[in-house]
Amino acid sequence: MEKYIIMGGIPLSGSVKISGAKNAVLPILAASLLSSGVTTINDVPRLKDVQVMKEVLEFLGCSVEWSGTTMKIDGSKVSSIEVSDFLMRKMRASNLVMGPLLTKFGMAKLSFPGGCAIGSRPMDLHLKGLATMGAKIEERFGFIEAVAPGGRLEGSEICLDFPSVGATENLMMAAVLAKGKTVISNAAKEPEIVELQNFLNKMGAKISGAGTDVITVIGVDGLSSTEHTVIPDRIEAGTFMTAAAITKGNIKILNANIRHMEAVVAKLREMGVKIIEEAGGIRVIGTDNIKAVDVKTMPYPGFPTDMQPQIMALLAVAHGTSIISENIFENRFKHVDELRRMGADIKVEGRIAVIKGKRSLSGTFVNASDLRAGAALAIAGLGAEDATIVDSIYHIDRGYENFEQKLRGLGAKIIRVTETNRTGIK
Ligand code: UD1
Repeated sequence: MEKYIIMGGIPLSGSVKISGAKNAVLPILAASLLSSGVTTINDVPRLKDVQVMKEVLEFLGCSVEWSGTTMKIDGSKVSSIEVSDFLMRKMRASNLVMGPLLTKFGMAKLSFPGGCAIGSRPMDLHLKGLATMGAKIEERFGFIEAVAPGGRLEGSEICLDFPSVGATENLMMAAVLAKGKTVISNAAKEPEIVELQNFLNKMGAKISGAGTDVITVIGVDGLSSTEHTVIPDRIEAGTFMTAAAITKGNIKILNANIRHMEAVVAKLREMGVKIIEEAGGIRVIGTDNIKAVDVKTMPYPGFPTDMQPQIMALLAVAHGTSIISENIFENRFKHVDELRRMGADIKVEGRIAVIKGKRSLSGTFVNASDLRAGAALAIAGLGAEDATIVDSIYHIDRGYENFEQKLRGLGAKIIRVTETNRTGIK
């Protein structure tokens, strides 16, 4: 198992370049299955989750080349419509191949996604939408089998019960080759949805409305190959902003789109952090006097649930009492006990956390339970007195490219260590 050892208390300084967005590239890679040729994707971050999606595409028969940050996927080579239990368990977002497989081949078979550390995360909205488009869906022997009668889905009107990101993406991808017009209302509005629309339209799809709550898709007969560069990762950018704030640092964030981060930027400014748009980047300047604020996670453009743990780490050292309401995932407070080990004063009641700010946190041994919880603990460690050891950092590797290298570039003292047992075996 690998761990981080972090010596806290060093103000971050310098500049950091944000990588391509994990949550944009995963649906784009799934959508490349729809192409009749080779798709080229640039700014693909070197992440564990992206590696898993590559394995899913290869399992389905695609040939995939990944060189540096460019990935080439040959979507004409698909030879299977089934994703194994093994790959579905590795990453829930593997379910994003459901829509493309079903619409292109008239059938798809996916192992049922298991539980998840941050909540139950069902797929009912994806499946209900596909059924509205005419798919016959059966759940048996741990698999979801979907078949489009006559080999083609029918365009239809779908109203999502909740603006689920994954369901919106799966249904957009399913609709691009369906017969006729599909209207998805109460759709998710995240920048990654707009990005998927842009990518699919470059391939020849006819989609409009992404970024609003109604998306319209006119089905076409086929999609061709294209080249695309992925948008920057707004959650990675927000994580570095929070790291700068907790260390009272002064950093410049390069390759970030501040328009995608308005809720996070507004909250940080309310806390007293200075955020200034400069030529080529965003400057973040910490303060000695972090103010307590209340945060409610909401679908975009609200405050992202993927930034909740990191902001909690910062609020643990704010002046005053803050309240965080987690409205997206029912179980996303796993970092609380670990932050408490570092001296944070946090009480949780259902989906509400009450955080009484302390003067400082103290370094100790903590364990990352999931991706963003891991990022939050690293941030807490950067701001804490003495050394913090963050265990299970494979979670952080799922979603942050070169995390410790980027932090070291900003002056942080952080190293990765690999635990060996007495035999010397890793
Ligand atoms: C995506 C992001 C994830 C982010 C989340 C919310 C990717 C790869 N992942 O996940 O980082 O935290 O959006 O912004 O983009 N739900 C249902 N039924 C469904 C689908 C979802 O009840 O069929 C519920 C979920 O349990 C959850 C909520 O809807 O409570 C939000 O989930 P969703 O927006 O679908 O998240 P993901 O697409 O899984």
